[in-house]
Amino acid sequence: MNVADSIAIVTGSSSGIGQSFTEQLLQKGATVYGLSRSLERMEAHKKQLGKVGARYIPVLMDISDHDAIEHWVKHTFTDSNHYPDILINNAGLGYFDNIEDLALEKFEQMMQVNVSGVFYLTRHITPLMKANPNTCHIINIASVAALMGNPKISVYNATKYALRGFSDALFKELRYDGIKVSCFFPGSIATRFFDEIDEIEVHNGMMHPDEVAETLIFVLERSDNFLISELTMRPLQPKKS
Ligand SMILES: NC(=O)c1ccc[n+]([C@@H]2O[C@H](COP(=O)([O-])OP(=O)(O)OC[C@H]3O[C@@H](n4cnc5c(N)ncnc54)[C@H](OP(=O)(O)O)[C@@H]3O)[C@@H](O)[C@H]2O)c1
Repeated sequence: MNVADSIAIVTGSSSGIGQSFTEQLLQKGATVYGLSRSLERMEAHKKQLGKVGARYIPVLMDISDHDAIEHWVKHTFTDSNHYPDILINNAGLGYFDNIEDLALEKFEQMMQVNVSGVFYLTRHITPLMKANPNTCHIINIASVAALMGNPKISVYNATKYALRGFSDALFKELRYDGIKVSCFFPGSIATRFFDEIDEIEVHNGMMHPDEVAETLIFVLERSDNFLISELTMRPLQPKKS
C-alpha cells in the first residue's frame, strides 16, 4: 500500500501508541480520523503537529457506543472517492485483579471497548472497504495477552484472545475482497495504559510507542499481495521480576 494520500481511521488516537500511529501516518501523507473520548488532547496534538496536522481530524467518540459509530460512519463517508483505506482498531484498556475482586463495571468496560467497540466499527467500515477499489487494511491491536494467560488479567486475556479469533476469521473472510486483516501482539510498551494498574510502573525496559508505530507503517507498506497477518513484538530485556 502507498500510505500517502490514503484515508485512515485510528481509534485511541489521544494517547500512547494510537497517538504515535496517528503521527506517523500523517508524516507519510495520510489523512487520519482519530477517535477517542478526549477531544481536547487530540486537538492539542493536532496543533503541535503543525503543517501535517491539517490532515488530522480528531473525532470525539466512545467506541463502545454503537449508534454513535453508525451515525458517524454514515455521515462522514458519503463520497465514494473518500472511503477509508486503513482501520487501526487500537483503543483498549486493561484492569488487573483477582477474578473475585474485579468490579463488574470493569469487566463490562473491557468487554465493551476491547471487543464490542472493535466489532461495531469494523462492521460499519467493512462495506466501505469492499466498495473501495484500493487494497485496504484493518489492523487490530491485541497484545501478548492474546497468546498466553496470566494471573490477575483473566478478563483482559479473554478480550485479547477474542480479538485474535476475530482477526484470524476476518482475514480469511475478507482476503478476496482486497482487504487485509492483521493482528498485532505487542509486549509491554511505555504508555498511559499502566496508569490504572497499581502493580506495574512504566520503566525503561518497555518498548517505545514510536517503534511500534514504525512497525505498523512497515506492515502497511507491503505490496498488495503480501500480508503480515500476525505479528508479535517484545522488549528484548524487560525488567526482571
Ligand atoms: N501499553 C502496553 O504495554 C500494551 C501492550 C500490548 C497491547 N496494548 C494495547 O494497545 C492499545 C493501546 O494502548 P496504549 O498502550 O497506547 O494505552 P493508552 O495510552 O492508555 O491509550 C489507550 C487509548 O484508548 C482510548 N480509549 C479507551 N477507551 C475508549 C473508548 N471507550 N472509546 C474510544 N477510545 C477509547 C484512549 O482514549 P480516551 O481515554 O481519550 O478515550 C486512549 O487513546 C490497547 O488496545 C492496549 O490493550 C498495550
